[in-house]
Amino acid sequence: METEKELTIADLNEKYPAALEYLTEIFLIHRDYGLVKNSVIAKRLGVSKPAVTQAMKRLKKYSLIEQDLYGSILLTPAGRRVAAKVLKRHYLIEHLLIHQLDYPWVKSDEEAARIQATLSDEFTDYLFEFFNRPDFCPHGNPFPGSVSEKKTLSAPRLSSAVSGTRGLIVRITEEGEVADGLLQFCYENRMQPGVEFVILKTSGDFVTVRLGEIKIDIPSGIADFICFTE
Ligand SMILES: [Fe+2]
Repeated sequence: METEKELTIADLNEKYPAALEYLTEIFLIHRDYGLVKNSVIAKRLGVSKPAVTQAMKRLKKYSLIEQDLYGSILLTPAGRRVAAKVLKRHYLIEHLLIHQLDYPWVKSDEEAARIQATLSDEFTDYLFEFFNRPDFCPHGNPFPGSVSEKKTLSAPRLSSAVSGTRGLIVRITEEGEVADGLLQFCYENRMQPGVEFVILKTSGDFVTVRLGEIKIDIPSGIADFICFTE
């Protein structure tokens, strides 16, 4: 049944903690790909399809999502507000961990996910001002509603680039941040936002790039999650 008062992150974290993960995942899938299906959520979160079906029932009960006749999932305005707020917290914690505490760039996404539900709005606002209202997380993902959001999301993936392309890495997607070993690979090969590259060769399996003096073969499964601008 619909509640009168809009649920806060703290309310949801108490009543149904998994809701936060589902809502942000739906937000991110929609932001990158448009259509959100039960099966895609299941794959991205590593849970079964029946588990997602159950979760969607609960989120519908809280009026946080809607589903059309074909099963596509959409956040309601209230669901979007929760997801955008959680992501904002997540990105700010990543800034705090990396830029103030020297915590590894590779591990900060995972740690931020553990902490994000417990932040207060006041501390979130404080961090936002402290870091001068950033547009991106330290992996290049845009804050929801930031001026650069649309442009950053339209940046092509490295896997689609042709040889000879010169560009600048702008983003490791959220999907990439949680893929096994992907951030570690990027870190070890200095493939982070702001780094320039030249594509030397592309094949079905690898994209070969030059970063400074170094030549790297990037598996296409990784290049799919790295975005660039020319
Ligand atoms: Fe990030």
